[in-house]
Amino acid sequence: MYPLTRLRRLRRTESLRSLVRETSLSPRDFIAPLFVVHGTGIREEIGSMPGQYRLSVDCLLEECRTLAELDVAGVMLFGIPEHKDATGSEAYSEQGIVQQAIRAIKRELPELIVIADICMCEYTDHGHCGIIHECEVVNDETLVYLSRQAVSFAEAGVDMVAPSDMMDGRIIAMRRALDEAGFSSLPIMSYAAKFSSAFYGPFRDAADSAPSFGDRRAYQMDPANGREALREIESDIEEGADIVMVKPALPYLDVIKEASMRYDLPIAAYQVSGEYAMIKAAAANGWIDEDRIVMESLLSIRRAGAKIIMTYFAAHAARLLREK
Ligand code: PBG
Repeated sequence: MYPLTRLRRLRRTESLRSLVRETSLSPRDFIAPLFVVHGTGIREEIGSMPGQYRLSVDCLLEECRTLAELDVAGVMLFGIPEHKDATGSEAYSEQGIVQQAIRAIKRELPELIVIADICMCEYTDHGHCGIIHECEVVNDETLVYLSRQAVSFAEAGVDMVAPSDMMDGRIIAMRRALDEAGFSSLPIMSYAAKFSSAFYGPFRDAADSAPSFGDRRAYQMDPANGREALREIESDIEEGADIVMVKPALPYLDVIKEASMRYDLPIAAYQVSGEYAMIKAAAANGWIDEDRIVMESLLSIRRAGAKIIMTYFAAHAARLLREK
């Protein structure tokens, strides 16, 4: 009790503050999401995500070199296909854009971790995350296509696959398919607790993946449900997930915290496009200090218990850490 206890004693100087600091950030914890398109020389800025681009493979490589130079751990690839169809066939084509990108990056930067998002929504003409029958996304048939996509990325040399579709049973289905194809050492990072969130808005512009009818509430989670999120995480762990992710990050820190206290595998969090866009927009207006908000939001995600952070600020934050 005061005056015996004075918590300010350890805040007096930066050396003392640094000595008792509980959480730290490192570029080795960051994964940078990147959008890859067909063509060459393409570096097209995404309107709702200033500073983020749709990149052709040559420009993507340049971006990856910069990230590796900054010591960022890895990249998460999202593909924008040449054409979309009902079963998202470019998702599992050997000449798919993500497959090309994986081969190119692994050839030039073998140390950089390449993760690929597994989902149908960027590749289907209806924009839903699975196969449609009578206006419904059918679960079990979709698993076949997701597994095919995972094996195809594995064959291209990806380091990890990250299913984001939210179908039931996709982790076990994918694990079996990967094992059968000879990829039993390839880890799966599951987007285990993925909420049906308005924070994905800018991403859907970027990937042109907004559903053409309805929404994703019949497969992504209700933002009201924290306990159900733990069931999702638990079932993915049982099915063989190696890393589990919570997404979005800042609005769901309670879920990250709870998951990190309950489960002993690495927890990842995805600071999504809407979180990025809000910070960029406010900063552009001069309403907030961008650098400080970037670091504080990333630190909060780490403090809540995430080991790994997918963030569009990966390069920016890595630069700030280097300057310190
Ligand atoms: C694909 C996918 C989405 C995001 C990651 N993977 C979009 C969605 O579910 O609609 C969102 C990422 C972001 O907003 O930054 N299913």
